[in-house]
Amino acid sequence: STAKIILQPIEKILTKELRRHFSSQNKKHANILQTQKFVPFIERVEMRRAEAKRSIIVQVQSAQSSKELQSYCDSIGTVQSMFHYTSGVEPLHFIIVEFEKESDVKNVLQASSQIDHIEETMAVPTQSHFLWFRASNRKLTKLKQNKSTKLLVQNGTNIVGEDEIKEMLTNCETVSDQLKKLHKITKLNDVGTRLRFLTAVQVEDALSGIFPNARAFPFGSSVNGYGKMGCDLDLVLRLVNDKKDSKDSRLIFHCKPVVGSERLVTQRHMETVGDLIHLFLPGCGHVRRILQARVPIIKYHQQLTDVECDLSMSNLTGVHMSDFLYMMGEIDDRVRPLIFAIRKWASAVGLTNLSPGRWISNFSLTLLVLAFLQKPLNSPPILPSLNKLTSLAGPKDQYVLDNGITCSFLRDLRKLNTKTQNTESLESLLCEFFAYYSQFDFNTKAVCLNEAVSITKPEHTAMYIINPLERGLNVSKNVSLDEVERFKNEVRTAAWTLESQENKSRNWGLLSILESKKRAVSNGSINSKNNRLMEVRALFDKERQEANFQETNSKNLF
Ligand code: CTP
Ligand code: MG
Repeated sequence: STAKIILQPIEKILTKELRRHFSSQNKKHANILQTQKFVPFIERVEMRRAEAKRSIIVQVQSAQSSKELQSYCDSIGTVQSMFHYTSGVEPLHFIIVEFEKESDVKNVLQASSQIDHIEETMAVPTQSHFLWFRASNRKLTKLKQNKSTKLLVQNGTNIVGEDEIKEMLTNCETVSDQLKKLHKITKLNDVGTRLRFLTAVQVEDALSGIFPNARAFPFGSSVNGYGKMGCDLDLVLRLVNDKKDSKDSRLIFHCKPVVGSERLVTQRHMETVGDLIHLFLPGCGHVRRILQARVPIIKYHQQLTDVECDLSMSNLTGVHMSDFLYMMGEIDDRVRPLIFAIRKWASAVGLTNLSPGRWISNFSLTLLVLAFLQKPLNSPPILPSLNKLTSLAGPKDQYVLDNGITCSFLRDLRKLNTKTQNTESLESLLCEFFAYYSQFDFNTKAVCLNEAVSITKPEHTAMYIINPLERGLNVSKNVSLDEVERFKNEVRTAAWTLESQENKSRNWGLLSILESKKRAVSNGSINSKNNRLMEVRALFDKERQEANFQETNSKNLF
């Protein structure tokens, strides 16, 4: 039946066939990951993980070392592809070497040496996918000259500068093109993704001796399709894997009993994992333990991949949330460019901030955009409600986590055969987003993606966005009343700025709202100039809200 309850869910979807498919079709994967074809979230994550497992990162003198490195690596295994990137202000050069098989990496690691390094620096004798390439005394004539180079990317992690972004957006034809361009040039690229999965595999490998089933699942913007170059890596570390447990086995491992509350035990374990990362893992530093938070995390910086990590041990919901956000982005190709533009705008006008606090987070902002796309003001919906996806969930989509939270919704979009009738341009969706939230009644309403309607707030907090997977939680609980006011003012300013543009000035279109702080438009003038537009939209909204209110009141939500 579809109500089957499954614990420790992520791995179970990996059937034997899929595993075989993964190991034999590496080359095909590389192509699949590059194409526009829909790949379900978990399959995509597994492909990336397999790719990381058969890759190493090698520090080199410069990109010029690639031929020699390729030749050396090919003498042990078969190199599939290589990617060059730099890290740091005085850049260090690295090459990701992807082999055809995971066993090639095992052989390479076995053939690698620790000795010189340890004698010189008294370093901790660890082995990992992170290596450096020693200069050779032998002559280069040994290189096979006829072999074509497999180095695919130069400067794989370079972040496009603000001036460059501005120039590219200025040269676009339309506002919609600006949104597409911004998305294209700032989104996390292939090398950035590879580095994040290699960073995750490092933690897994380090723990594998004592916890052979340890898995570090990447989630959040690194994998949900809303990450930009340089984004943080959210990781959830799981030590158990029920998949391999055989109920029939008569030999059971002795395991140490744990003493104390679950939260205390998790905190203690995380402290130890934090020490391990700090003391033993090459490249990892600046370890900070934030163990008193609702979800305790360890923050650290992996210098060799230049990735900032947030590692938790108890939050699998985040992985399913990432799946949900990923799917929403895959449903319509306007979703991601719109979210990138709105995140960029929010950062430019100071609504979001790198550190957490009483302001709106990128995650909350993303949910606001998705909620808007579920019911734009005067056009058909672009995205379905989560309830609709839940109703379409098949047996393979049924997940109940060990904390009792249900994360069952359709994962394979190829089975969602309804296509939106909405043909609005990105430009008009952007304008409508601002108009929509400038009149949203944050005082009494909560945003709800499950029903795709706004509902009456269940409790008094300045901004209420129902967590779609844990409906008792408010995602924007942290946001203060002041910040909601600021949000409302900024969306009004943006709506007005975009609507009042007549021709292409210097900072036209999207650029005009990325600079809107400097323009300092007063709220009074916005309201008077924008009155007619607002009146028409208010009428639409009132009708909708009344309809929604009746609909949601008839459902017992909490
Ligand atoms: N998350 C959640 N509930 C919250 C906060 C976060 O489920 N109240 C999950 C979401 O899946 C989110 C992920 O944790 O995507 C990571 O959160 P965060 O790092 O704050 O957001 P990102 O989406 O990763 O965006 P950013 O690029 O700002 O890191
Ligand atoms: Mg994140």
